[in-house]
Amino acid sequence: MSSLPAVLEHIDAHRDDAINRLFEFLKIKSISTDSAFAQDCISAADWLVAELADIGIKASRRDTPGHPMVVGHSDTISGRPHVLFYGHYDVQPVDPLELWHRDPFDPAIEETDSGAVIRARGAADDKGQLMTFIEACRAWKQTTGELPVNITFLFEGEEESGSPSLVPFLQGNKEELAVDLALVCDTGMWNAQTPAICTMLRGLLGEEITITAADKDLHSGMFGGPAANPVRILTKILAGLHDNEGRITIPDFYDGVDPLPAQIKTQWDSLGFDEAEFLGAVDLAVNAGEHGYSALEQLWSRPTCEFNGIEGGYTGEGFKTVLPSKANAKVSFRLVGNQNPLTIRENFRAYVQQCLPTDCTVEFEDHGASPATTMSIANAAFENSRTALTDEWNNDAVYAGCGGSIPVVGYFNEILNMESLLIGFGLDDDQIHSPNEKYSVQSFHKGARSWARVLEKLAENG
Ligand code: BES
Ligand code: ZN
Repeated sequence: MSSLPAVLEHIDAHRDDAINRLFEFLKIKSISTDSAFAQDCISAADWLVAELADIGIKASRRDTPGHPMVVGHSDTISGRPHVLFYGHYDVQPVDPLELWHRDPFDPAIEETDSGAVIRARGAADDKGQLMTFIEACRAWKQTTGELPVNITFLFEGEEESGSPSLVPFLQGNKEELAVDLALVCDTGMWNAQTPAICTMLRGLLGEEITITAADKDLHSGMFGGPAANPVRILTKILAGLHDNEGRITIPDFYDGVDPLPAQIKTQWDSLGFDEAEFLGAVDLAVNAGEHGYSALEQLWSRPTCEFNGIEGGYTGEGFKTVLPSKANAKVSFRLVGNQNPLTIRENFRAYVQQCLPTDCTVEFEDHGASPATTMSIANAAFENSRTALTDEWNNDAVYAGCGGSIPVVGYFNEILNMESLLIGFGLDDDQIHSPNEKYSVQSFHKGARSWARVLEKLAENG
């Protein structure tokens, strides 16, 4: 007889304990980009080690040149499939802090129009999500004494800061980490009632450019005119990166971008995405993207170039007639299909160099480069998991794309030769990376129940 009903009941009966455990985790300020929080990242890793130990998983903190990894292994039961679960314990910075309506590291349940939510930095990205999996494992373990499949756990603390230690760690621990399939819980649902399996992730290229003109800031009345202004040069370069149709102008940029297969387009069209509602939710009305594509196609299947920050000159209170010496921009590209991030980096840098007046210099800083990934749904684990999700949510689970990037999925493929199955319970209005991040209590609770079901299905995969 299936143990699943008892496992699900266990999750229901211990829901509040699970929320309290998540609250403990959310209180740890594991912001990976800011070195002031390095100790908190260690605390978060240690917390996970203890949490895994609590459910009988032998785990340890594995130090790296950056923030530590956590690796754990369940006791091996022979003849069962072996999966690796990946999540990240680091969170985004909280600024601007004044826009939060509560302390980002003092989690609480809040009632909202769309139901109860857990409010805190990391609630959805990714602490709440990764805990859905741990809670499902706990329920299996405490109900039946074992897990339905063999599981290796891998938690990273640098996902939000470009994962500098990840590739060397995967390369150095191939034998230990390469198993049948990776499970990742860091993506979203199609909507609050419809679960999704993500089959496409965009890649990401991050570039920072600093243009220097004169050797110091100057008076704009005394030097403005003859002296080059790096803010003018920078903004002209940036403005030149898109044409009037919203296409990116870098030579060969679209190499490797294929038209969307008709079958996928039909499937996406059947999802009934409401563009006006999507934009309306953030107080916008007009699609500002590449002409000729729906918002969903733009988000899931087209590359973009965005400016994430610009700095230069006087930005403080009041006014200053300065002619700045330097100007800086952080530029990111979301990539799709077979676009090669390294070629694009080269071509981008060449374009910037070629726009530069002789008097000016430019410095480039590399902020990571990862290609897009497309999951093949041929592996039976996909359809079996989709059934498990459909059973839990009483609504057909869908295959979806994802506008975001999870570089580890590409590395699992390349380095460990391992496919990934991406299931997550985030919602579009979770405000990940923004003030007032939240995770719906329903996502957390039914997320754990979903994983409990998926684990059972994966065991059948045998
Ligand atoms: N969980 C997100 C990825 C994501 C975003 C999934 C939106 C579903 C919807 C992940 O933690 C993230 O934010 N990744 C970064 C990439 C990283 C290299 C900084 C991203 O997509 O910007
Ligand atoms: Zn994430």
